[in-house]
Amino acid sequence: MLKYTLGIESTCDETGCGIVRFGREVLASEIASQIEVHRRYGGVVPELSARLHIDWLFPLVEQALEKAQLTLGEIELVAAAYGPGLVGALHVGLQFAKGLALGLGRPFIGVNHVAAHLYTPWMQREVPPLPAIGVVVSGAHTALLLMSSLDHYTLLGQTQDDAVGEAFDKVARLLGLPYPGGPHVEELAKEGDPLRYRFKAGKMAGRPLDFSYSGLKTAVLYQLKESCSRADVAASFQQAALLPIVEKASAAAHQFHAKSIVVGGGVSHNKMLRSLFASHCKVPVYFPPPGLSLDNGAMIAGLGAYLFSKRGGDRLDLSATPRIPL
Ligand code: KG4
Ligand code: ZN
Repeated sequence: MLKYTLGIESTCDETGCGIVRFGREVLASEIASQIEVHRRYGGVVPELSARLHIDWLFPLVEQALEKAQLTLGEIELVAAAYGPGLVGALHVGLQFAKGLALGLGRPFIGVNHVAAHLYTPWMQREVPPLPAIGVVVSGAHTALLLMSSLDHYTLLGQTQDDAVGEAFDKVARLLGLPYPGGPHVEELAKEGDPLRYRFKAGKMAGRPLDFSYSGLKTAVLYQLKESCSRADVAASFQQAALLPIVEKASAAAHQFHAKSIVVGGGVSHNKMLRSLFASHCKVPVYFPPPGLSLDNGAMIAGLGAYLFSKRGGDRLDLSATPRIPL
């Protein structure tokens, strides 16, 4: 495994630059969030996102090198997320990383952003045993995968409409809370009763490991038209959104004889999700280490280093890929 890998993240509204030692130890993870800019539009504006990545990449690389106490010449591999994400945003980070690798005379590797989220539980001292059930819970994805190795997955189930993070963001908007809504809904839910309203996430006939969130969001919309407690709505929604993830991951672990469950993506930051996993699952559950739940460059560097050790780097004509099937 190479010693120092620099990773660039620019799939959506965070610019990230991370430096990782031997693919697992985070030496720096610098993140510039564009949230304040996008907030006034209620969501991410793709064109603005791409332009802001351009502004932030150079300073973040410098900050990361300073934090890691390294010079550019010591970086042995440059990794970047090549998808999935917003095409303009992806291009900025990807082409920047290729230019950097070329200038340094070092190899380049493209990394799947979703796979990098799932790699984060391995970036800490205690590593999850395989095979594992991978749980992706982010703003764009909700999926269960059977991981036989760190780079070999089989898709078991996924959302048929909204992603769970997207449902949090939409419900936050209905509740008059700022974007991105997940942390605000979680905060409001602390004061509420999760059993007050009988919300339920959707079920798919014959597809027990799939998810559906659009009906849940509509149920919240109708409840809010009546007189109700906002905190109870937030708490009941949160429970209804998160419990199926935990129950399905647990059922999948049993069915496929998994030795662990690993959770990645922005929603893994949610404390209620963590405590539901703790109380429902028989196998050990691993979460991202602190600071690696939300989008960041360290996870790109980490998985990049791992993949490079298995199969070498990518050619410089690797293109940004907005959609990558799981
Ligand atoms: O993984 P991520 O940073 O970006 C994507 O790859 O999509 O996830 C962002 C999502 C947003 O939808 C945000 O509302 C949600 O993660 N999120 C949360 C929490 N923190 C972030 N959802 C619920 N509870 C949280 N504490
Ligand atoms: Zn993400």
